[in-house]
Amino acid sequence: MEVALYESLTAHQNRWMPETIWVPALVLALYQNRHAPYSRFVQLATVRPDGRPANRTVVFRGFLDETSQLTFVTDARSAKVAELGQSRWAEVCWYFPVTHEQFRIGGPTTLVGAGGHDPPLLDARRACWRELPEAVRLSFTWPAPGERRAPRVPFPTQHPDPTEPLPHFCLLILDPNEVDQLELNGNPQNRWEYTRDEHGRWRGAEINP
Ligand SMILES: Cc1cc2nc3c(=O)[nH]c(=O)nc-3n(C[C@H](O)[C@H](O)[C@H](O)COP(=O)(O)O)c2cc1C
Repeated sequence: MEVALYESLTAHQNRWMPETIWVPALVLALYQNRHAPYSRFVQLATVRPDGRPANRTVVFRGFLDETSQLTFVTDARSAKVAELGQSRWAEVCWYFPVTHEQFRIGGPTTLVGAGGHDPPLLDARRACWRELPEAVRLSFTWPAPGERRAPRVPFPTQHPDPTEPLPHFCLLILDPNEVDQLELNGNPQNRWEYTRDEHGRWRGAEINP
């Protein structure tokens, strides 16, 4: 994990311009906070069909290949998947406790479920399934999340095939379009805003904290 993060950091440093410096900054934060397991927990906000916000914690599962897209996994039957089906935009809020930094990253999402049609994304879904801890894979055999729990009915305990994702397993990809980075260290604190236009060009600016 550490070597992978370090390689990712140097690869990103060589590839990104000042306008997209948030990418190596995020990779560096992941590296510097690597001993705090909860530094991979982020809050993912979506929009409910009636316009109200919905928010929950998910685990960051890494960047999609060599891109700056963020990957997460979830159950296709969960509320967040239905919400993203209606409104693709999501935002994560990510606090790094060791370096005292916050990243707010927003953008459209892509859900890759069993019925996906894009072979590279289906490969990424399969690869992600294989890398999951066994206990997480097992949770995809459980009854639908959010439904009323049947009393006294034990949940399945048999581990699923680690090579082939179960049908409810969903890869969630967030393609960042807006990033707000806040560094609490410093007096005054430091804050930058990055946005990507419709041509894919990033602009970055330092803003007041
Ligand atoms: C530390 C932590 C990590 C979590 N990681 C995930 C995750 O990676 N994917 C996920 O779908 N839910 C994860 N959950 C559960 C979600 O926070 C949430 O309860 C669940 O996904 C149902 O959310 P929804 O009804 O809004 O879809 C995690 C919860 C905690 C507390």
